[in-house]
Amino acid sequence: MDDIKEITERLDMDRLPVHVAIIMDGNGRWARKRAMLRTEGHAEGVNSVNRITRLASDLGIRFLTLYAFSTENWKRPREEVDALMHLIGWTIRKETPDLVKNNVRIHLLGEIDRLPESVRKDLEEGRRATSGCTGLNLNICLSYSSRWELTNAARKIASLVEKGEFKPEDITEDTVASMLSTKGIPDPDLLIRTGGEHRISNFLLWQCAYSEFYFTPVLWPDFDNKAFAEALADYQNRERRFGMTSDQVAEKTSESTE
Ligand code: IPE
Ligand code: IPE
Ligand code: MG
Repeated sequence: MDDIKEITERLDMDRLPVHVAIIMDGNGRWARKRAMLRTEGHAEGVNSVNRITRLASDLGIRFLTLYAFSTENWKRPREEVDALMHLIGWTIRKETPDLVKNNVRIHLLGEIDRLPESVRKDLEEGRRATSGCTGLNLNICLSYSSRWELTNAARKIASLVEKGEFKPEDITEDTVASMLSTKGIPDPDLLIRTGGEHRISNFLLWQCAYSEFYFTPVLWPDFDNKAFAEALADYQNRERRFGMTSDQVAEKTSESTE
């Protein structure tokens, strides 16, 4: 890739986010602007998925979480949902060899049971084929919503309490985190939303408690390497305080570099 060198020179490679999450929005508007079908916008969005996955992997980012289809997206017109499902299955089949080659491991987050059987099979095959990969962890959120996930977690905890395996007073933040589909994955450092909307649309509500948010008007199919690098550079200019004062943060940083 020609521009990777340019990108790495601009960034502080020791301070990259460990986990980047993306709300990939704007495929429909991208298509409409060109008098194309919304589904053509989704197909173009797949190119962005491939490009950004490749760049994240080349940069050495550990976790990339992509919001591909929300629980609420089931409410879209039947033809659009069908086209999206078809595209998801086709993409995973097509891309799996490259993912393996690039050492990228796929994880699936969401209510996968709701997806058509053939797509589930393709996804499962992709997951299995990449299960030994040790580079980038690519989390694909499908039929995912945060409220679904938190409701599920509440059910699991309630059932453990009912069975006497847990006392209510023993429930900690770690207990809740361990019942989510992101179990074992560090919280996102950076959450990007393309497409110009300033909302979270039911994505990772628990996990993004202290994430840095980056909103860009760029539509997802237009989100190129340069746009991703800009988001990373912007992230590197933020001071993450986690509730502390700026002086405390500075003290902590100097302690950790001593
Ligand atoms: C995001 O693009 C992709 C999915 C939600 C599946 P949209 O389809 O939401 O595109 P816009 O927001 O209508 O432009
Ligand atoms: C969020 O985009 C979901 C995904 C990107 C998969 P939407 O287009 O569904 O979000 P809203 O409806 O504008 O909030
Ligand atoms: Mg949208």
